[in-house]
Amino acid sequence: MAEIIKVLKGTKDILPQEVNMWQFLEKKADQIFSKYGFKEIRTPIIEYTELFSRGVGDTTDIVNKEMYTFEKSDRSITLRPENTAGVVRSYIENGMTRLPAPVKLWYHGPMFRYERPQAGRQRQFHQVGVEMFGVKQPTADAEVILTAVNYLKALGLNDLDVEINSLGCPKCRQEFKNKLKEVLKPYFNDLCEDCKNRYEKNLLRLLDCKVESCKKIFEKSEVQEVINSDFICDECAEHYTELKLYLNKMGVNYTENKLLVRGLDYYNRTVFEIKSNNLGSQNAVCGGGRYDSLVAQLGGEDTPAVGFAMGMERLISLITPKEPKKLDGYIVSNFPVDAFVLAEELRHQGLNVEFDLTNRKFTKQLEKASKVAKYAFILGEDEILKHQVSIKNLDNGKQITADRATCTKMLDL
Ligand code: HAM
Repeated sequence: MAEIIKVLKGTKDILPQEVNMWQFLEKKADQIFSKYGFKEIRTPIIEYTELFSRGVGDTTDIVNKEMYTFEKSDRSITLRPENTAGVVRSYIENGMTRLPAPVKLWYHGPMFRYERPQAGRQRQFHQVGVEMFGVKQPTADAEVILTAVNYLKALGLNDLDVEINSLGCPKCRQEFKNKLKEVLKPYFNDLCEDCKNRYEKNLLRLLDCKVESCKKIFEKSEVQEVINSDFICDECAEHYTELKLYLNKMGVNYTENKLLVRGLDYYNRTVFEIKSNNLGSQNAVCGGGRYDSLVAQLGGEDTPAVGFAMGMERLISLITPKEPKKLDGYIVSNFPVDAFVLAEELRHQGLNVEFDLTNRKFTKQLEKASKVAKYAFILGEDEILKHQVSIKNLDNGKQITADRATCTKMLDL
């Protein structure tokens, strides 16, 4: 026998018995996001690599270590590691900057990051997310966070922690970075290798390092003093205060986390994550924030924006599994031609129906019906002669006989 080819490490099949959970997430996303005026957008999975090096940032782990990149016709192409950059590209390219603000878009689909796979972390994973363009006021940040919280509620997820922080603007953040650099300098040699690299290139990312020895350094009083200092300028502080006011008014519970910095370069002011205690180390179900410079950075007009994305695999691992949908009917008959005709009649009437293509024994067919369907449509000689069908409710065992043309009206589907 030929060798079996397996699925790639860090990727997974979504099997038929799991698909209903994915459809549930997608349907709820459409319902909830539509309530807030978001419209679905579908962008390609492949984009020019430059979109991500310019968009996500070439000092980030995502761009440096995790992208699936290949050459075609002398152009460097990448499987999207996230979708904010792609949506921004499409927003600019399709002239959406000319639409009245806000432009609200939502999406779902596969993303690709070459990370070390572990529980809750895959190389091909799926995100559902929203992006809102054109509003600089904190009402937009608040509405986006509220959209995320209400989506999670609609999935039955109520006890999640919303964490927020403000990264300030590039100007006030630079002062903060200078101070942080200064206070960490004496400890440089004790930092982990990743943090040593980030010290020059991506200083803020040091703050969410998970290595114990680094965490100890951040706990030192002089470092804490810098981290907890109110470094953001008056305008950024006002934006953050207003955001908190809106969240309070809307009944969104949140905690402030000064160490929340996010792993992508495009953020300014508001950043947020929503975390679960039931997910182990990969505990973020949602990450997002404001990215006011990205549209201009990618060649569009200066347009403020804010959004989030959630990991769909992580959401699925938190929600109660749903029973896959059963067929409406299964035809039980040893007259295959008549069974075939009846199946087609019922399908035309809107039912999901199967019959036994191999014409097994009557009892075997009935056994199968009780496993896969809500009703057994029994077709014996008598029924065929009278143009009728016997219908057995497979939940309660009750059976009726009815005319074929009108029988579906008598069902509780
Ligand atoms: P992110 O934090 O990189 O943000 O990803 C968002 C969410 O995707 C994470 O919170 C997590 O649930 C999920 N996720 C990320 N990587 C993996 C993985 N390897 N396996 C499974 N799930 C994963 C972004 O992607 C931004 N584009 C979010 C955003 C939208 N910001 C503004 N707008």
